[in-house]
Amino acid sequence: MKKCLLLILICSSTVSFAQYTDAKMNSFISGLMAKMTLDEKIGQLNLVTPGWGIPTGSVVSKGVEDNIRKGNVGGLFGIYTPERIRKAQDLAMKESRLKIPLMFGSDVIHGHKTTFPIPLGMASSWDMKLIEQAARVAATEASADGLNWAFSPMVDIARDPRWGRVAEGSGEDPYLGSQIAVAMVRGYQGTDLSKDNTLLACVKHFALYGASEAGRDYNTVDMSRVRMYNEYLPPYKAAVDAGVGSVMSSFNVVDGVPATGNRWLLTDLLRRQWGFKGMVVSDYTSVNEMINHGMGDLQAVSALALKAGMDMDMVGEGFLTTLKKSLQEKKVTQQEIDLACRRILEAKYRLGLFEDPYRYINDERAAKTILTPEHRQASRATAARSMVLLKNSRQALPLQRGGAIALVGPLANDKNNMLGTWAVAGDPQMSVPVLEGMKQYLATGNIRYAKGANITNDTNLAKKANVFGTRVEIDPRTPDDMISEAVTLAQSSDVVVAVVGEASEMSGEAASRSDITLPDSQRKLLEALKKTGKPLVVVLMTGRPLAIPRELEIADALLLAWFAGTEAGNAISDVLFGVVNPSGKLPMSFPYNVGQVPVYYSQQPTGRPMDPNNKFSTKYLDVPNEPLLPFGYGLSYTTFSYGKPRISGARMNKAGRLTVSVTVSNAGAYDGEEVVQLYLRDKVRSISPPVKELKGFQKVMLKKGESREVVFEITEPMLRFYNSDLKFVSEPGDFDVMVGGNSKDLQQMSFTLQ
Ligand code: BGC
Repeated sequence: MKKCLLLILICSSTVSFAQYTDAKMNSFISGLMAKMTLDEKIGQLNLVTPGWGIPTGSVVSKGVEDNIRKGNVGGLFGIYTPERIRKAQDLAMKESRLKIPLMFGSDVIHGHKTTFPIPLGMASSWDMKLIEQAARVAATEASADGLNWAFSPMVDIARDPRWGRVAEGSGEDPYLGSQIAVAMVRGYQGTDLSKDNTLLACVKHFALYGASEAGRDYNTVDMSRVRMYNEYLPPYKAAVDAGVGSVMSSFNVVDGVPATGNRWLLTDLLRRQWGFKGMVVSDYTSVNEMINHGMGDLQAVSALALKAGMDMDMVGEGFLTTLKKSLQEKKVTQQEIDLACRRILEAKYRLGLFEDPYRYINDERAAKTILTPEHRQASRATAARSMVLLKNSRQALPLQRGGAIALVGPLANDKNNMLGTWAVAGDPQMSVPVLEGMKQYLATGNIRYAKGANITNDTNLAKKANVFGTRVEIDPRTPDDMISEAVTLAQSSDVVVAVVGEASEMSGEAASRSDITLPDSQRKLLEALKKTGKPLVVVLMTGRPLAIPRELEIADALLLAWFAGTEAGNAISDVLFGVVNPSGKLPMSFPYNVGQVPVYYSQQPTGRPMDPNNKFSTKYLDVPNEPLLPFGYGLSYTTFSYGKPRISGARMNKAGRLTVSVTVSNAGAYDGEEVVQLYLRDKVRSISPPVKELKGFQKVMLKKGESREVVFEITEPMLRFYNSDLKFVSEPGDFDVMVGGNSKDLQQMSFTLQ
């Protein structure tokens, strides 16, 4: 009884404390807003980029300094370093009338100056602690560089590798994507936003951007509500549930209305249904782009966005230049402007900026915190654990330290392509190329290098990949000369390591490809190397799944390194030489060819399942239905064997729980980690169920010879889905439950929900 009373007291004091801080914030902001003119309120809704850093869009804001003085700017992005940020904050704090601090955002996507693997790479680790830690390091560095707002995590479910932005997200699966969304929000925001080493996170791009038709960037999206709710919305919602402080709208339409001006999306769903309390920012000029979408002129689209629930206008200045007029003409209301302004001021308040506008600006901290050996080590470890071993035959890997190695390929000694897309603060020159990394493990003389091929011989493609600096260098030698140099080297070596793939800007924003094979130049190189008969180890760098059936066939070993970040060369070498045993699993299926796209594991069944002997069954004439490499797939230097899984009962009621257990053994010669995966299938339900859905996973470390029982719990909420009334329900009936090491090789059991 006493205990109970104490508990009530503790709980009630926590609640009243929260109310107290909110009340304090509210009264502070109300007081401030009472002093603000209409222009100053509208000024807060304006987010600009002065173009002092890397441009991330085609327009750069003009007259920024003057606008800050006038109180016409709420925040800045595209700049960092204490010096620059201090200069801008000084303008607001010393020269504007009300001295409202600016907030400073940036695309901190996979690290800040210490660059981590691209997000699709980190997703391959299936290690939430590691991902949270990477976001933590990014926040530590970015906040030391003056920033307080990260335009991340990008959680768009993506099933079309033609879309270059698959590199920025976590792949095809809503469950894995949701877990990662939560880990990243935690990593950036920590538990206290006002600390000087945390950042306001921004989940993007709300919503459905990953479903752009034909994988062409910025293109139309059209999707049923049940698909939306069940498959595409969960990661955004998970970020909201985890307390993300801001949301960025997407460029695409949702139900025919651009997301940026879509009231159903930004208000009914996000705020009313999900209870989101933070601020919403547009994407880069996405308010203005609604003119091209056919939604009206600048005044009309700006009013549309504000009324939909948009708070901050990125770069386009439609809010700044038209909202006053719209208010006079009664096209928007004072309350709508006030509400948007209040939400931005609340974000600044939570960041602690009113208490200390210079909180994130500290030269000493920047010098001590950025690109430290510890951060580089964290990046190296994350990169090594993000790599996926796709093939390993003839015991080609790990490499022996004694042998003579021919290191070839256009990405083997190339600093310019190690970071991948969206490394806005990363300096390619600080990165470690593979040649340098491998030298740590080999005596000089045991490693010789030849470029072998250009990334591409297509000058047009090269030009497009070189927009942010040289990524593709076309060698003055002929392609044949380059290949023959590499072949000669291979012939006098024990093993060939070929580092091939995309240039980093061949994926990312505005980098859609209709052909997702390796460029011709590199395919020819691999064919020539194969003919030497030497063991051929291929290291693949890419920002998207590529169609590589031939490469998978001719390589003895194939290691998918993604774009591994600042420490790429070291991390790749750690894996190649077996210091780290690869443990990544694919977060996105790899197709045979682009014609299969979209191909993903959790498809809906058809009424005519695939049957090779039945003409009228669902299939292609020329390729299998299955991808070349399934979701969840990845090998290790050791082998894992799975015992027969057991389920604790055949029936479960709604309040009950079942356990599924399986013994996993490390049956090979190395210690290693395995991602044990749990999938479920609802056998009969009111809307056609996917063939399977990931519902759990555990990454376990097993020493050689060790066995471990891995246990999953099944409870009723895991069986829920959005039905055709968009109610989140479970339906009684039979379920299949499957466990295994990837989405294809699974052992199945079943149970009944009563
Ligand atoms: C991208 C966003 C990014 C923004 C600011 C846009 O083009 O779509 O992901 O955060 O630019 O750089």
